[in-house]
Amino acid sequence: MRPIRIALTKGRLEKDTVAALERVGYDCSELHDKGRRLILRIPGSNIEVVLAKAADVITYVEYGVCDMGVVGKDTIMEYGGSFFEVADLGFGRCRFALAVKKGTDFYSGYAEKTVATKYPNVARRFFADKALDVRIIKIEGSVELAPLLELSDGIVDIVETGTTLKENGLEVQEEVAPISARLIVNTASMKLRKRELEEIIGNIEYAIGQKG
Ligand code: PRP
Repeated sequence: MRPIRIALTKGRLEKDTVAALERVGYDCSELHDKGRRLILRIPGSNIEVVLAKAADVITYVEYGVCDMGVVGKDTIMEYGGSFFEVADLGFGRCRFALAVKKGTDFYSGYAEKTVATKYPNVARRFFADKALDVRIIKIEGSVELAPLLELSDGIVDIVETGTTLKENGLEVQEEVAPISARLIVNTASMKLRKRELEEIIGNIEYAIGQKG
């Protein structure tokens, strides 16, 4: 049988995930010294680590080529999918917020509003819940530009420290949802490799709990 494969989100969540695995006692030396490699072993364990982009973590877990994954709630909210979300890992904490140019009010006036976002599904649901018709424009990154260039009245985006908003003359108007890293598991793996997965999940949860 192949090793248990864990897909990790490259970038922002990577460091905290590796730190959590190290607290469990896993040897993450390959992950520290990975160069451009994307599949890494944890010596002394039956675990293989795969480094992928956030949305692809979900895809690999859904198709079962990875048994588990670590991905942000932001990605889960945007892309959905069928898998088990087994734990809130507590790191990667930030939030989705509706932000506008400082001093402006997104909801003022009667004209239809426009929102720019990397997360059109999240934004659409947020305004649908308020029964508001809002035009959504998908932007690939640096969404803060959209209201500055007057493409949109506001943005729905991730806010972590708030620095990006502040340095660009924007401010949070309203919270949309809290975000943190989640551990997800393929539904078939959960049945077929239950014992191995439960051990890993338990170890990670214990290590996370020990931290705080
Ligand atoms: C995210 C987000 C904000 C910024 C928020 O962008 O879209 O731009 O981080 O962080 P802060 O509140 O700590 O300033 P990211 O760095 O992922 O880049 P991108 O928007 O260009 O994809």
